[in-house]
Order: sequence, then structure tokens, then C-alpha cells
Amino acid sequence: MNLVTIDAKKCQGHALCVALMPSVFQVDDSGMGYVAVATVPTEYRADLDEAILACPERAIKSSA
Ligand code: F3S
Repeated sequence: MNLVTIDAKKCQGHALCVALMPSVFQVDDSGMGYVAVATVPTEYRADLDEAILACPERAIKSSA
């Protein structure tokens, strides 16, 4: 499992994370990203890494 967080101070609502992993990332009513599922199974690690790299604000962090 990978524990995922979005730094609300960095997120600018680009939503690339949502486009790549909508089962994990969502945007709230104000258009900012949040983590809907905080623990991502290890088999989705590659998708998670792609979402982390896609964020222009480097707002997404994960730890194993
Ligand atoms: Fe925010 Fe980055 Fe996603 S700016 S909405 S965490 S792509």
C-alpha cells in the first residue's frame, strides 16, 4: 500500500491527477484536488508515480 497526500498549500487545481487516477484523486467544490482514497495498492504504483510526476505544482506525495 502507498499512502497518498496532496499538499493543499501547493495544489492549484490543475486536475491532471484526477484525469490520470480518478479513483484516487478528485477535485472539491472550489476546484482544488483532494485524495479520495488515501491508500493505493502497490499494483497501481506505476499509475500513481505518473500522477505524481504530472502535477505541475509537485503537490502530490506518497510513501510506501
Ligand atoms: Fe492539484 Fe496537482 Fe492535482 S495541482 S489538482 S494535485 S495535478
